[in-house]
Amino acid sequence: MKKGVLLVLVSFTLLILVACGDGNSADAQENDEVQKMIIRFVHVVSENTPKHQGALAMKEYIEEASDGTIRMEIYPNSSLFGDQDEYQNLVANNIQFIAPALTKFVGNNPQFNISEMPFLFENDEQAIEFWDGEKGQEVLGSLQEDGVLGLSMWPNGGKHLTNNKRAITSPEDLKGLKFRTQGGQLMDMIYSTLKAGSESIPFDELYTALDQGVVDGQENTFSNIESKKFHEVQKYMTVINHTRVDYAVFTNTKFWNSMNDATREIVEEGLAKGTEVARAEALTLNEQALEKIKAAGTTEVNELTAEQVDAFREVLQPVYAKYEEIIGADVIDAALKVSNH
Ligand code: SIN
Repeated sequence: MKKGVLLVLVSFTLLILVACGDGNSADAQENDEVQKMIIRFVHVVSENTPKHQGALAMKEYIEEASDGTIRMEIYPNSSLFGDQDEYQNLVANNIQFIAPALTKFVGNNPQFNISEMPFLFENDEQAIEFWDGEKGQEVLGSLQEDGVLGLSMWPNGGKHLTNNKRAITSPEDLKGLKFRTQGGQLMDMIYSTLKAGSESIPFDELYTALDQGVVDGQENTFSNIESKKFHEVQKYMTVINHTRVDYAVFTNTKFWNSMNDATREIVEEGLAKGTEVARAEALTLNEQALEKIKAAGTTEVNELTAEQVDAFREVLQPVYAKYEEIIGADVIDAALKVSNH
């Protein structure tokens, strides 16, 4: 448990009685007044990211529309819970919203691997269309056994490679290097196919892992790289867009079902505002972050040509052969359809 978390959790105990529908919500549910509550949105990235901007827009709407009856607290930078413990705390209703990278759910349902299929979605629009569509919604809805609901997809963007050893412009350049992944066997297969090593490391430990050489490199969006200063400890970056970081906002059913209509309407509208902002900001924040990385001058940036990208695409074809069965041909087909492949 993180420093300070214990203290916060003690104060939660009282607040949760009011906050999450356990205690006095029955009256409010009956008379349909907006319920007094504090809701918590926990995430692992910095403030200058689409996820945080979306969460802020959600907070602003909810607090204003409820005249402060509903308060929303946002905990960025793994400051309350991180990759290792945010899901369990959502299930336990200690927190009410999380928005992890979808690949972090592959242990719950291997269909979440779709977000890591190499060169599948070319841009935010394609990823949004898939996750808003029938198959995407089915996958997002597949955690209900845990009492977890996937509500709305928020994009971040394409991932790019950084490392400390050499410029990467061809698949052969990865040979012998070790990369951090967000977890899951598909990412391990990508790196083993490229004759590189891989290790899953929580996001909040990644800067130190890169700085200390635990791994040679990592893959991420420009906004995650720049806002966490990974480029300051990585000499090379390859702009490749081989897989993506996409999120969905998840809640738990205990909290969700405790809301009366008046409360839920405000929270749902807040989520819609957050979705709008996260979707609108993702590309701009990534473009701005790329410019900042270039301007910092710490990292050699290699933008691959279409032919160079094709060489990676070809080497990674075996991933499709293997994962079509694991993810399901129907889900892969729906994704291929929106991505025009
Ligand atoms: C995130 O964007 O939420 C984290 C991504 C990562 O773990 O690399």
